[in-house]
Amino acid sequence: MVWSVIAVAFWAMLPAYVPNNAAVLAGGGAPIDGGRMMGDSRLLGDGKTWRGTAVGTVIGFSLAMVLNAINDPASAAIGVQFPTFPLLTALGLAFGAMLGDITASFIKRRSGRERGAAFPGLDQLDFVIGALALAFLTSPMWFLETFTLEVLLVVAIMTPALHVTTNIVAYAIGVKNEPW
Ligand code: CTP
Ligand code: MG
Repeated sequence: MVWSVIAVAFWAMLPAYVPNNAAVLAGGGAPIDGGRMMGDSRLLGDGKTWRGTAVGTVIGFSLAMVLNAINDPASAAIGVQFPTFPLLTALGLAFGAMLGDITASFIKRRSGRERGAAFPGLDQLDFVIGALALAFLTSPMWFLETFTLEVLLVVAIMTPALHVTTNIVAYAIGVKNEPW
């Protein structure tokens, strides 16, 4: 029972988990803020690029399509009914994750934190909040059916744990500059 809730939560959030990691691998190139300042700090900073954002969104969306394609066999194998992602929902989850992360950088810069500085709590949850918010806006009915209270509870516990782990691994293998 608990395991099936965890499995559904993981499946539903995968298109939101992958974009930020894809952006780390794809980053570089022109920053979204074009170098613009707001007060004494950059608007967003060099860590938020057009390429990272675009690649992250496309990868997250594509992953949702792959999950849709394997939904039936996966559901049968695990013994739970996984959700399928409508196109707009898939886009909402993937782009929402990127948008949440970008919003967090905006907040970090306003609070005087340089690019790469840690902001515990915000770093781990920014992309979840962005993804859930855009998924709700693009498809409220799908959202309410998929993200029941127990699924949301699992997401709230599972996400920071996964985020911390993947970032430590990314740092250890040298693809990320900081372990957060
Ligand atoms: N990245 C990107 N575009 C994004 C998000 C991330 O290009 N929209 C890439 C950048 O190369 C970035 C790296 O992924 O440096 C790590 O992402 P993140 O930790 O979010 O950025 P930071 O460099 O730590 O900057 P910030 O302090 O603004 O979070
Ligand atoms: Mg960072």
